Amino acid sequence: MIKIKDKQFEPFIHHGQIAEKVATLAEKINADYKGKNPILIAILNGAFMFAADLVRHLTFDHEIQFVKLSSYQGMDTTGKVKELIGLTSDIKGRDVIIVEDIIDTGTTMYNFLPQLKEKGVKSVEIATLLMKPGKLKVPLDIKYCAMEIPNEFIVGYGLDYDDIGRNYKSIYVVKEN
Ligand code: IMP
Ligand code: MG
Repeated sequence: MIKIKDKQFEPFIHHGQIAEKVATLAEKINADYKGKNPILIAILNGAFMFAADLVRHLTFDHEIQFVKLSSYQGMDTTGKVKELIGLTSDIKGRDVIIVEDIIDTGTTMYNFLPQLKEKGVKSVEIATLLMKPGKLKVPLDIKYCAMEIPNEFIVGYGLDYDDIGRNYKSIYVVKEN
């Protein structure tokens, strides 16, 4: 059990299982991108740990860029997405793989995708560590997802509760009392 600010969290996904799922997802991506040279766009802050582990399994040449978006405050979505730090390289004509920590309502990705398409990408796919299918409220085609979880708030492995808890190796779920 861990405590962050006013909430208690209990163990949910052990780091060993996360590692296995990331490796399995990487195999799929390796098969699909063999011989290609895509740009990975990792979404800060949450995806930093997943991105770091994922790229260590990738066997094709690729570049990685980091973009900072924000849509969350505390445990509720604000429904708005801000691009805080933009792309620094030209993605026109490139295959792009977005690397996300978690797809919740899908709002972040739904609003971000058109920005990439406007820049003339050749293709764009989403690779997410986690998704909550029960909370998705926009049409999103998610080609690569390591794990699906119920509608619960989690922390660890890059994910935060009010900016705390990103450092945990395993994932923890909020304990409702
Ligand atoms: P969406 O726009 O509703 O899909 O939310 C996406 C973003 O919200 C993710 O990239 C996370 O940063 C954050 N988020 C969603 N669910 C959780 C959670 O359970 N714990 C921590 N952050 C979350
Ligand atoms: Mg995120």
